[in-house]
Amino acid sequence: MDKTINNDIIYIGCDDSEITQFEGQYMLEEGMCYNSYLILDDKIAIMDTIDDRCGAQWLANLDQALNGRTPDYLVVQHMEPDHSSLIAEAVKKYPGIQLVMSAAANKMLALYFPGADLAANVKTVKEGETLALGKHTLQFFTAPMVHWPEVIVTYDQTSKVLFSADGFGKFGVYDAEPDDWACEARRYYFNICGKYGAQVQALLKKASALSIETICPLHGPILKGEMLAEALRLYTIWSAYDVESEGVFIAYCTMHGNTGKVAEALAEILRQKGAPKVAISNLCEEDWAEGIEDAFKYGKLVLAAPTYDGGLFPKMVDFVHHLKIKNYQKRRVALVENGSWAPQAARIMREMFADFKDVEICPTVATVRGALKDTDRAALETLADEILK
Ligand code: FEO
Repeated sequence: MDKTINNDIIYIGCDDSEITQFEGQYMLEEGMCYNSYLILDDKIAIMDTIDDRCGAQWLANLDQALNGRTPDYLVVQHMEPDHSSLIAEAVKKYPGIQLVMSAAANKMLALYFPGADLAANVKTVKEGETLALGKHTLQFFTAPMVHWPEVIVTYDQTSKVLFSADGFGKFGVYDAEPDDWACEARRYYFNICGKYGAQVQALLKKASALSIETICPLHGPILKGEMLAEALRLYTIWSAYDVESEGVFIAYCTMHGNTGKVAEALAEILRQKGAPKVAISNLCEEDWAEGIEDAFKYGKLVLAAPTYDGGLFPKMVDFVHHLKIKNYQKRRVALVENGSWAPQAARIMREMFADFKDVEICPTVATVRGALKDTDRAALETLADEILK
């Protein structure tokens, strides 16, 4: 995919095709890219460093783009190490460089670079402050909790480019799934920023006052034209926890296949009853983070799980916990449980949902004991009617 922005703004980021998990928890089938940009003007600004996993490549890209010139500023939009881990390296190489960052980021510097004396290089900026490079003028806006408290985004008033930090990022190397930005951008959004819908909305409000032709995020492709419009449309839905697609997502856990068969039977009933879309995932085998993504994508959620050690099957405990910490809300949820002698799974799931905001649990619980039987189907029919209501 095209990495051209304009003659003055050069892409100097890197693809990390070796990494298999982001933050040590999110599966990556196609690696990850860490974006970084160089603005060449009378004064030169680097827009963020990258993860030191690709440090040598980044320094080579920087050298080539600088073509013998010396950078004046390193704008630090986000202190998470996938973007900031080469700050000390940059200062070592360019001792006069100014580190442009929020006051909150400044407080974090010593946490990540103990022993490095970077204080003299720091230039803190406030909300709305500008920095003239020559032809280009940069304006900084705070974006706290998108995804950390110190985050700023940067608007190039001259090129109408918004450098959006983690916002509008996605999993994958730069060229991953070029025709389907939304799939991995959605999984990234809900798992990385899902908790912070209000803060993302605050950033969207600031962005709406700007004339933006290009978004340069710190992960994923540069967004322009129709792709940019679609990304803004989806972020408006996602940050409000609104339903993107009418449909039902069934997430199940199964130990010996029986609860899986119940989930499949319910999926078939839902289709027969006219559900616009039924998506289903076995959390014991498939990516749980994609399950989180689908839970937010669709309007209705069914959870089906066995009882285990007198409680809820651990992988489902973990999934509901992740829904909670990602601020899952504004949805209807149906519960299916299995238990051969003392089913407890639905009771525990209901208790776990008790303090969720605006989640309605369907009154009927489908309880199966062991294998699916014809006598279980009436409860599944009722549950399907309630979830589709
Ligand atoms: Fe891409 Fe929050 O770091």
